[in-house]
Amino acid sequence: MRDPAARPKVTVASLQEFKRRGERIVMITAYDYPFARLADAAGVDILLVGDSLGMVVLGLESTLPVTMDHILHHTKAVARARPRALVIADMPFMSFQVGPRSAVRNAGRLIQEGGAEAVKLEGGERILPMVEAIGRADIPVLGHLGLTPQSVHRLGGYRVQGRGREAHARILRDARLLQEAGCFALVLEAVPPGLAAEIRAALRIPIIGIGAGPDCDGQVLVLHDLLGLAEGPAAKFVQRFADLAGVARAGIAAYAEAVRHGDYPRPEHTYEA
Ligand code: KIV
Repeated sequence: MRDPAARPKVTVASLQEFKRRGERIVMITAYDYPFARLADAAGVDILLVGDSLGMVVLGLESTLPVTMDHILHHTKAVARARPRALVIADMPFMSFQVGPRSAVRNAGRLIQEGGAEAVKLEGGERILPMVEAIGRADIPVLGHLGLTPQSVHRLGGYRVQGRGREAHARILRDARLLQEAGCFALVLEAVPPGLAAEIRAALRIPIIGIGAGPDCDGQVLVLHDLLGLAEGPAAKFVQRFADLAGVARAGIAAYAEAVRHGDYPRPEHTYEA
């Protein structure tokens, strides 16, 4: 077990070492300063400022309305924690799809203004020119294949990807292309475990799974899912490792009761004249 306090800063180069040594990579999403500090102190390797913030933090219906301003605002907060974990910012919908020039400009803002150390882009073959252009600007790129929520309308919903021979072959091919285009790692979301294992074996770069089974070089989950802060039905792959919603509700209810009964504030909470 790694000692979180003693570990060196995680870089894109260290992630390649993790894969070489067979050490699993731990990635979670983070959207603000306090949780970035907590996750870093717990020894997480990568903090992703995911566009999932649209749903779990801003109460939006999907990731599609998330803007550069949203991602920048939250990336700045996470970067202020100065974590040892690598900070990656998600490129939101329409921040990179238009073409390489605007993709480089927006990726540059996430690094220069936001303080991110790498960016993540969803998509396969069609985004290769953007991945290459961002890479030429010396900005490390994390790819994202399988269920790509920004393509929800084309995919017809949030469903498992890579089932059937043709879809399996297309994702495997996209993974190889993204590696050749310079991605330092790939997120693989909601695909059958056999496909993830095959991609992991075929690629030099780390594969980080979410709903992709155990045969990955690392795993990622949305912070609010794993802490039990997101209420309502969760995806099949989510495990709740805590019940923070329950703890928060109980704490707020206790405060409300104390105020209503005149039990708070007590003398020790009060300033002398
Ligand atoms: O936006 C996000 O949180 C993500 C992860 C689920 C990988 O893309």
